[in-house]
Amino acid sequence: MGKFHVINHPLIQHKVTILRNKETGTKDFREAVNEIARLMAYEVSRDMPLQDVEIETPLVKTTQKHLAGKKVAIIPILRAGLGMVDGILDLIPAAKVGHVGMYRDHETLEAVEYFIKLPTDIQDRQLFVVDPMLATGASAIAAIEALKKRGASSIKFVCIVAAPEGVKALEEAHPDVDIYTAALDEKLDENGYILPGLGDAGDRLFGTL
Ligand code: URA
Repeated sequence: MGKFHVINHPLIQHKVTILRNKETGTKDFREAVNEIARLMAYEVSRDMPLQDVEIETPLVKTTQKHLAGKKVAIIPILRAGLGMVDGILDLIPAAKVGHVGMYRDHETLEAVEYFIKLPTDIQDRQLFVVDPMLATGASAIAAIEALKKRGASSIKFVCIVAAPEGVKALEEAHPDVDIYTAALDEKLDENGYILPGLGDAGDRLFGTL
Protein backbone atom coordinates (compact mmCIF):
# COMPACT_ATOMS: atom_id res chain seq x y z
CA MET A 1 0.00 0.00 0.00
CA GLY A 2 1.28 3.48 -0.86
CA LYS A 3 1.87 5.85 2.01
CA PHE A 4 -0.44 8.73 2.91
CA HIS A 5 1.34 11.91 4.06
CA VAL A 6 -0.14 15.11 5.49
CA ILE A 7 2.53 17.79 5.16
CA ASN A 8 1.35 20.20 7.82
CA HIS A 9 4.37 22.41 8.37
CA PRO A 10 3.25 25.68 10.05
CA LEU A 11 4.18 27.74 6.96
CA ILE A 12 2.01 25.46 4.84
CA GLN A 13 -0.93 25.57 7.27
CA HIS A 14 -0.74 29.38 7.29
CA LYS A 15 -0.85 29.52 3.50
CA VAL A 16 -3.68 26.96 3.24
CA THR A 17 -5.76 29.24 5.50
CA ILE A 18 -5.13 32.06 2.99
CA LEU A 19 -6.48 29.78 0.24
CA ARG A 20 -9.57 28.86 2.25
CA ASN A 21 -10.50 32.48 3.00
CA LYS A 22 -13.15 33.63 0.52
CA GLU A 23 -11.75 37.17 0.73
CA THR A 24 -8.47 36.04 -0.93
CA GLY A 25 -8.36 37.31 -4.52
CA THR A 26 -6.92 35.61 -7.60
CA LYS A 27 -3.41 37.08 -7.37
CA ASP A 28 -2.91 36.12 -3.71
CA PHE A 29 -4.56 32.74 -4.25
CA ARG A 30 -2.23 31.92 -7.14
CA GLU A 31 0.81 33.03 -5.15
CA ALA A 32 -0.19 30.92 -2.14
CA VAL A 33 -0.78 27.79 -4.31
CA ASN A 34 2.64 28.32 -5.83
CA GLU A 35 4.35 28.72 -2.46
CA ILE A 36 2.58 25.71 -0.95
CA ALA A 37 3.63 23.57 -3.93
CA ARG A 38 7.22 24.74 -3.51
CA LEU A 39 7.23 23.89 0.21
CA MET A 40 5.57 20.52 -0.43
CA ALA A 41 8.12 19.65 -3.13
CA TYR A 42 10.78 19.67 -0.42
CA GLU A 43 9.01 16.83 1.44
CA VAL A 44 7.78 14.98 -1.65
CA SER A 45 11.36 14.74 -2.92
CA ARG A 46 12.76 13.64 0.46
CA ASP A 47 13.42 10.06 -0.66
CA MET A 48 15.19 10.96 -3.90
CA PRO A 49 18.14 8.60 -4.22
CA LEU A 50 21.69 9.91 -3.91
CA GLN A 51 24.92 8.47 -5.20
CA ASP A 52 28.58 9.01 -4.42
CA VAL A 53 30.57 11.42 -6.50
CA GLU A 54 34.27 12.19 -6.24
CA ILE A 55 35.13 15.87 -6.30
CA GLU A 56 38.00 18.08 -5.28
CA THR A 57 37.44 20.93 -2.87
CA PRO A 58 40.09 23.67 -2.95
CA LEU A 59 41.86 21.58 -0.25
CA VAL A 60 41.41 17.84 -0.84
CA LYS A 61 39.81 15.08 -2.88
CA THR A 62 36.58 13.90 -1.28
CA THR A 63 33.63 11.61 -1.94
CA GLN A 64 30.29 13.34 -1.56
CA LYS A 65 26.65 12.80 -2.60
CA HIS A 66 24.70 13.99 -5.57
CA LEU A 67 21.27 13.14 -6.92
CA ALA A 68 21.03 9.84 -8.76
CA GLY A 69 18.38 7.63 -10.14
CA LYS A 70 15.12 8.54 -11.70
CA LYS A 71 14.57 11.95 -13.18
CA VAL A 72 11.34 13.72 -12.31
CA ALA A 73 8.34 14.69 -14.40
CA ILE A 74 5.56 16.89 -13.04
CA ILE A 75 2.13 16.02 -14.42
CA PRO A 76 -0.56 18.62 -13.68
CA ILE A 77 -4.15 17.50 -14.10
CA LEU A 78 -5.78 20.32 -16.10
CA ARG A 79 -6.70 22.88 -15.25
CA ALA A 80 -6.13 23.53 -11.54
CA GLY A 81 -2.98 21.38 -11.41
CA LEU A 82 -1.20 24.02 -13.52
CA GLY A 83 -1.09 26.27 -10.45
CA MET A 84 1.32 23.88 -8.70
CA VAL A 85 3.86 23.41 -11.49
CA ASP A 86 6.06 26.49 -11.12
CA GLY A 87 6.50 26.04 -7.35
CA ILE A 88 7.81 22.50 -7.84
CA LEU A 89 10.01 23.59 -10.76
CA ASP A 90 11.62 26.14 -8.42
CA LEU A 91 13.08 23.20 -6.47
CA ILE A 92 13.52 20.71 -9.30
CA PRO A 93 14.25 22.91 -12.32
CA ALA A 94 15.35 20.04 -14.58
CA ALA A 95 11.98 18.27 -14.27
CA LYS A 96 9.94 17.77 -17.44
CA VAL A 97 6.26 18.68 -17.46
CA GLY A 98 3.50 16.53 -18.96
CA HIS A 99 -0.18 17.42 -19.08
CA VAL A 100 -3.33 15.37 -18.57
CA GLY A 101 -6.77 16.86 -19.23
CA MET A 102 -9.80 15.16 -17.70
CA TYR A 103 -13.45 16.18 -17.68
CA ARG A 104 -16.43 14.62 -15.98
CA ASP A 105 -19.11 13.20 -18.28
CA HIS A 106 -22.34 14.56 -16.81
CA GLU A 107 -24.33 11.48 -17.79
CA THR A 108 -22.01 8.67 -16.75
CA LEU A 109 -20.25 10.81 -14.06
CA GLU A 110 -17.02 9.17 -15.20
CA ALA A 111 -13.77 11.05 -15.76
CA VAL A 112 -12.91 11.20 -19.46
CA GLU A 113 -9.43 11.98 -20.80
CA TYR A 114 -9.53 14.74 -23.45
CA PHE A 115 -5.84 15.71 -23.65
CA ILE A 116 -2.57 14.02 -22.86
CA LYS A 117 0.96 15.10 -23.72
CA LEU A 118 3.85 13.49 -21.87
CA PRO A 119 7.65 13.30 -21.92
CA THR A 120 8.62 10.32 -24.11
CA ASP A 121 10.48 8.56 -21.28
CA ILE A 122 7.83 8.55 -18.54
CA GLN A 123 8.59 4.90 -17.80
CA ASP A 124 12.04 5.98 -16.54
CA ARG A 125 10.85 8.97 -14.52
CA GLN A 126 9.51 9.57 -11.04
CA LEU A 127 6.15 11.24 -11.75
CA PHE A 128 4.58 13.85 -9.47
CA VAL A 129 0.92 14.03 -10.49
CA VAL A 130 -0.46 17.31 -9.15
CA ASP A 131 -3.97 18.64 -8.58
CA PRO A 132 -4.81 20.99 -5.69
CA MET A 133 -8.05 19.16 -4.78
CA LEU A 134 -8.53 15.43 -4.17
CA ALA A 135 -12.34 15.31 -3.92
CA THR A 136 -14.04 12.10 -5.16
CA GLY A 137 -10.71 10.94 -6.57
CA ALA A 138 -12.27 10.21 -9.97
CA SER A 139 -9.99 12.43 -12.04
CA ALA A 140 -6.83 11.45 -10.11
CA ILE A 141 -7.66 7.77 -10.52
CA ALA A 142 -8.34 8.16 -14.25
CA ALA A 143 -5.25 10.33 -14.83
CA ILE A 144 -3.00 7.81 -13.08
CA GLU A 145 -4.64 5.00 -15.06
CA ALA A 146 -3.85 6.90 -18.27
CA LEU A 147 -0.20 7.30 -17.18
CA LYS A 148 0.19 3.63 -16.22
CA LYS A 149 -1.32 2.59 -19.57
CA ARG A 150 1.54 4.50 -21.20
CA GLY A 151 4.23 2.82 -19.10
CA ALA A 152 4.53 4.93 -15.94
CA SER A 153 5.39 2.88 -12.87
CA SER A 154 6.70 5.30 -10.27
CA ILE A 155 4.01 7.79 -9.29
CA LYS A 156 3.35 10.15 -6.39
CA PHE A 157 0.12 12.13 -6.16
CA VAL A 158 0.40 15.63 -4.67
CA CYS A 159 -2.61 17.75 -3.68
CA ILE A 160 -3.28 20.62 -1.27
CA VAL A 161 -6.69 19.70 0.16
CA ALA A 162 -7.95 16.11 0.29
CA ALA A 163 -11.33 14.64 1.29
CA PRO A 164 -11.27 11.29 3.12
CA GLU A 165 -13.51 9.84 0.39
CA GLY A 166 -10.97 10.73 -2.30
CA VAL A 167 -8.02 9.39 -0.33
CA LYS A 168 -9.81 6.06 0.20
CA ALA A 169 -10.85 5.77 -3.46
CA LEU A 170 -7.36 6.62 -4.73
CA GLU A 171 -5.67 4.23 -2.29
CA GLU A 172 -7.99 1.43 -3.38
CA ALA A 173 -7.57 2.08 -7.10
CA HIS A 174 -3.80 2.66 -7.03
CA PRO A 175 -2.30 1.13 -3.86
CA ASP A 176 1.23 1.65 -5.19
CA VAL A 177 0.87 5.46 -5.31
CA ASP A 178 2.00 7.61 -2.36
CA ILE A 179 -0.39 10.48 -1.62
CA TYR A 180 0.81 13.84 -0.26
CA THR A 181 -1.60 16.53 0.92
CA ALA A 182 -1.28 19.76 2.87
CA ALA A 183 -4.66 19.26 4.58
CA LEU A 184 -7.09 16.42 5.17
CA ASP A 185 -10.60 17.93 5.34
CA GLU A 186 -13.86 16.60 6.78
CA LYS A 187 -15.96 15.38 3.87
CA LEU A 188 -17.56 16.05 0.49
CA ASP A 189 -20.85 17.89 0.16
CA GLU A 190 -23.68 16.65 -2.09
CA ASN A 191 -22.16 18.47 -5.09
CA GLY A 192 -18.72 16.93 -4.68
CA TYR A 193 -17.12 20.02 -3.08
CA ILE A 194 -14.71 19.49 -0.21
CA LEU A 195 -15.80 20.86 3.21
CA PRO A 196 -14.56 23.15 4.64
CA GLY A 197 -12.42 23.27 1.47
CA LEU A 198 -11.67 26.39 -0.50
CA GLY A 199 -14.28 26.35 -3.30
CA ASP A 200 -13.39 25.66 -6.91
CA ALA A 201 -9.59 25.75 -7.10
CA GLY A 202 -9.49 26.24 -10.89
CA ASP A 203 -11.91 29.19 -10.81
CA ARG A 204 -10.08 30.81 -7.91
CA LEU A 205 -6.66 30.33 -9.58
CA PHE A 206 -7.68 31.69 -12.94
CA GLY A 207 -10.29 34.28 -11.90
CA THR A 208 -13.17 32.58 -13.71
CA LEU A 209 -15.66 32.77 -10.83
N1 URA B 1 -12.59 20.57 -7.02
C1 URA B 1 -12.45 21.81 -6.50
O1 URA B 1 -11.88 22.69 -7.14
N2 URA B 1 -12.95 22.05 -5.28
C2 URA B 1 -13.58 21.11 -4.54
O2 URA B 1 -14.01 21.41 -3.41
C3 URA B 1 -13.72 19.83 -5.09
C4 URA B 1 -13.21 19.57 -6.34
